[in-house]
Amino acid sequence: MGRLLLLKCFRKDIANLPENRYNKICENENKERQKMKIIMLGAPGAGKGTQAKMIAEQYKIPHVSTGDIFRANIKNGTELGKEAKQYMDQGLLVPDELTVKILLDRVAQDDCRGGYVLDGFPRTIPQAEVLDSALEKLGEKIDYAVDVDVPDENIVKRMSGRRACLKCGATYHIEHIPPKQEGVCDSCGSELVLRDDDRPETVQNRLKVYHDQTQPLIAYYTEKGILRTVDGTMDMQDVFRAITDILG
Ligand code: AP5
Ligand code: MG
Ligand code: ZN
Repeated sequence: MGRLLLLKCFRKDIANLPENRYNKICENENKERQKMKIIMLGAPGAGKGTQAKMIAEQYKIPHVSTGDIFRANIKNGTELGKEAKQYMDQGLLVPDELTVKILLDRVAQDDCRGGYVLDGFPRTIPQAEVLDSALEKLGEKIDYAVDVDVPDENIVKRMSGRRACLKCGATYHIEHIPPKQEGVCDSCGSELVLRDDDRPETVQNRLKVYHDQTQPLIAYYTEKGILRTVDGTMDMQDVFRAITDILG
């Protein structure tokens, strides 16, 4: 019997129950229907975005990338974009106050009710704490924090070969993951660009910021028992297989 039909029978069954019991059953039902909430951790260029897109597709949950949200705002010339760009171009983090608000607004949208994969958030301990307490108020929690582990030596090489679509967020690599037609996004046909923050000097700064401010999250999520690490130096399909083995 289909799941929907089962739920309908269930509802008919409980239609005449007292309200408090009915509410309790509905609450459990909603919980059951919740999909996964996943955080992607890893250095800049580790492949968080590449894997998050694949996860989103496989598990039918939205891919939420704070970097993509900022880049879309920069492209559209919004006030938020102007402010974020000052930090991003230097490889620095956008201040927590600004980033947290944007992320919480995004995950409050309807499509995120069933779960999501966060890519590039949280990036500091205070961001993680705000997220945890916002979820706690809703009786929810993060299921897994997946760390895509790639040593610094591999990173700079990856970044200089990356080409990004600023319209739909797709990423390519001129050697490893080339688009079908050079310079054109496979998914939406827009022009592919080298991101402003992918210049080698900026990448070095981003790595330093990662080690100082983001890496402590590995201990944070280890302590919560939800950290899972995958070797991000493998071929992207193998990385994905390792991740789906974890997520089930
Ligand atoms: P963001 O956009 O999040 O950048 P990032 O963390 O630096 O990560 P990247 O997007 O550069 O790398 P990725 O791990 O997604 O790798 P990708 O899959 O593209 O943030 C940009 C900026 O925004 C920050 O610096 C900050 O200023 C600001 N910001 C964002 N979020 C913030 C927050 N929460 N707080 C404060 N500030 C924030 O892969 C990289 C390349 O490698 C690609 O070319 C890809 O095709 C290739 N590749 C991927 N996997 C493989 C593989 N297995 N083998 C070979 N090549 C591969
Ligand atoms: Mg990314
Ligand atoms: Zn595109």
